[in-house]
Amino acid sequence: MKNSKTQVAIIGAGPAGLLLSHLLHLAGIDSVVLESRSREEIESTIRAGVLEQGTVDLLTQSGVGERMKREGFVHHGIYLRFNGHSHRIPLSELSGGRSIMVYAQHEVIKDLVKARLDAGGKIVFGVRDVRLEGLDSDSPRIHFNQDFLSCDFVAGCDGFHGISRPTIPAASRTDFKRNYPFGWFGILVEAPPATDELIYAHHERGFALVSTRSPTIQRLYFQCDPKDDVNNWPDSRIWEELHARLAGPDGWKITEGRIFQKGIIAMRSFVTEPMRYGRLFLAGDAAHIVPPTGAKGLNLAVNDVRVLSQALVSFYEKKSEDGLKDYSTTALKRVWRAEYFSWWMTSMLHRFPDDSPFQHRIQLAELDYIVHSRAKAVTLAENYTG
Ligand code: APR
Ligand code: PHB
Repeated sequence: MKNSKTQVAIIGAGPAGLLLSHLLHLAGIDSVVLESRSREEIESTIRAGVLEQGTVDLLTQSGVGERMKREGFVHHGIYLRFNGHSHRIPLSELSGGRSIMVYAQHEVIKDLVKARLDAGGKIVFGVRDVRLEGLDSDSPRIHFNQDFLSCDFVAGCDGFHGISRPTIPAASRTDFKRNYPFGWFGILVEAPPATDELIYAHHERGFALVSTRSPTIQRLYFQCDPKDDVNNWPDSRIWEELHARLAGPDGWKITEGRIFQKGIIAMRSFVTEPMRYGRLFLAGDAAHIVPPTGAKGLNLAVNDVRVLSQALVSFYEKKSEDGLKDYSTTALKRVWRAEYFSWWMTSMLHRFPDDSPFQHRIQLAELDYIVHSRAKAVTLAENYTG
């Protein structure tokens, strides 16, 4: 595709970039997606898997929700587990009937890539040396490989480590960040579900999370040192740690199985403001990161591109720039709400290295308050379901 032109150039084929391209296509707007990795890689990278009601609705309405509806799992509650007992938070009952869907992010990616390619959409995989030029003009250019792409707008959907955000001059953006002194050790296990709904467990040895993927594959996490190495964790040590954090007087136990994937993820909160520079619009992880405790990352990316696609449609259909002008402010409202929620869940459930016994008791008091106060539980349910 030597020196071609499109309306919207999209950097990154994550959930943000692919869904944006799909939504624009439905409105008759042309886009090209430039992705540095291969199709196989993006379709197999293990990420989170909780979709809010609004995300499920948007994927369904836009015609890419069919497999998700068939293979995903609707959950109406979660458990908070502390002092060795599980307490159910009935999310749907507390949030006016909203629910969540457990469906892995890479499955969403597969569905979106297929939808784009079936519709003749352009995704260029394995691009190198991506560079943005002319963002303050009305015809920016993206240089990549030995080629370039001219466009009206650039969508920076290239994740936290992409090139879009760093292209914005430091004087034109403000970054807000917090790193957490722990990470999550995540595993995929061949086993039947040990629980009917997700378990968020508080323990003095650190947080643990029991999630699921399918009737035969389970997803488990436990808080770890972010600099630790998966090679320090033979399977037996992982099970020992999970049993220690999840056991309790109620006798509930995690079901063991063959571990076939291990990885450590960093935990950080990050926001850049504004999410626009000239004709460049940032969406998803390129603009913000949340720790995974609130399961918000993918949902925020989806919300950004919902707002951005509407703004672009109104530009092309009505010649109105209002939506584009408001994009950053509108998206950031939702972003900061999720930043707050994810920070809150993280702070309440994890063990911090400098925690005193006092802080440990305060965490337990807060968890107990959620379990016994409808008002407090509603706060969790509203935020969790989106
Ligand atoms: N050029 C082209 N593509 C790039 C570049 C680059 N310079 N840098 C990164 N990319 C690609 C990555 O390979 C990746 O496929 O951009 C894509 C970004 O995708 P994600 O990181 O998944 O980000 P996003 O689409 O915003 O989705 C956010 O991903 O990290 C999770 O928890 C997060 O669920 C959330 C979701
Ligand atoms: C997951 O299933 O991967 C998952 C679930 C809930 C979270 C984070 C990740 O909060």
